[in-house]
Amino acid sequence: MEKENFNRRDFLKSGFKTIIAGSVILNAVDVKKLLAEAESISESSHTNAKVINLSDYPDLANVGGSTTIGKTFIMRTGSSKFIALSTVCSHKKCDVDFTGDGFECPCHGSTYDKSGKVTNGPAKKNLRSYKTAYNSEENTLTINM
Ligand code: FES
Repeated sequence: MEKENFNRRDFLKSGFKTIIAGSVILNAVDVKKLLAEAESISESSHTNAKVINLSDYPDLANVGGSTTIGKTFIMRTGSSKFIALSTVCSHKKCDVDFTGDGFECPCHGSTYDKSGKVTNGPAKKNLRSYKTAYNSEENTLTINM
């Protein structure tokens, strides 16, 4: 009986030491860094990258050419540069029309320049823009939405 109590005491002591050691190790780890990594993984898992083969879009073959895919307007602004903008008006979400010089919303008249910047309200926010990455070897464009 005495020996069993002693063993329990030893067991509890060693368990307590293990908990203390674990706490010390956790404190030594850069918790902020772990959280930041977890957030970036979370963000990247929400990133919706769309890859288009430019040979399927002849309108994008030349600088200045443009096309709209779904609710995304894409323009080739250089031999290897593109812009991609949402065609959803930032005011009340109507689809904007490309006028050649910029965009115009048929619902309440907001206008935007070619880069999606508001030039006339009632919209206050620019059109949403997406980062693009051109792959010249594969002739593809990745749009990060
Ligand atoms: S929805 Fe475009 S201006 Fe109102």
